[in-house]
Amino acid sequence: MRNQIVAGNWKMNNNTPETELLLNNLIKYKIRNGVSVYIAPAFTQLYQSVIKLKGKDIKVAAQNVNAEVSGAHTGEVSCSMIKGVGVSTVILGHSERRSLYSESNNFLKEKVITAIESGMEIIFCFGEELSERKENKHFDLVKNQLTKALFHLPNDTWNQIILAYEPVWAIGTGETASPEQAQEMHAFVRQQIEYKYDASLANSVSILYGGSVKPSNAKEIFSMADVDGGLIGGASLNAEEFIAIVNAF
Ligand code: PGA
Repeated sequence: MRNQIVAGNWKMNNNTPETELLLNNLIKYKIRNGVSVYIAPAFTQLYQSVIKLKGKDIKVAAQNVNAEVSGAHTGEVSCSMIKGVGVSTVILGHSERRSLYSESNNFLKEKVITAIESGMEIIFCFGEELSERKENKHFDLVKNQLTKALFHLPNDTWNQIILAYEPVWAIGTGETASPEQAQEMHAFVRQQIEYKYDASLANSVSILYGGSVKPSNAKEIFSMADVDGGLIGGASLNAEEFIAIVNAF
């Protein structure tokens, strides 16, 4: 049985009082048994969130990390800094990092290596643009993203990997992939892992779907055989909506 996971990617939202408010609202709810829940606030709100969520069933993740261990990288944050505030999960490969900050598959590979060596868990995002889907290149594109950034990893590090398929055309647009489109890609990804590694590893990796997941569509998407949860952007900024998604399994 794979882990069922719902992670909220807050992106560049929620300063200190706003974080306090949202966390106060979130901790009022009981988290459904068996679902692992994460929130990913900005770096500056990680420590605040860890302290606030101590003893609660919500884990804290970072949204990014540098590939270097330390040194002359003005404005950057390392794995040990993140771990130092009690966070051991990081989102990597988000489409906004890929497109707005030019993060390539090879660059992401370096981040993946550092994070894995630091003992961190990675929520690794991948997915195609609309033009690539229209040209029927989405499977090749996804295969390439995974091959370059992840398929160098040894078998025994995959327990540190959570995958998140996020078709770029569905992120923040209100347009969701249909449950069938999500299932088709998730099954393809699982098959690629099986080809590269083996069936038992492929069947153990949680693959989340992300892109305009809302309380109204979460149940249908999560009911698909290879969808193990969601990475939630906009709807994670509202406690009631986020918890409704968590409870959609
Ligand atoms: P969205 O974002 O839910 O607002 O579409 C998802 C994401 O970017 O992870």
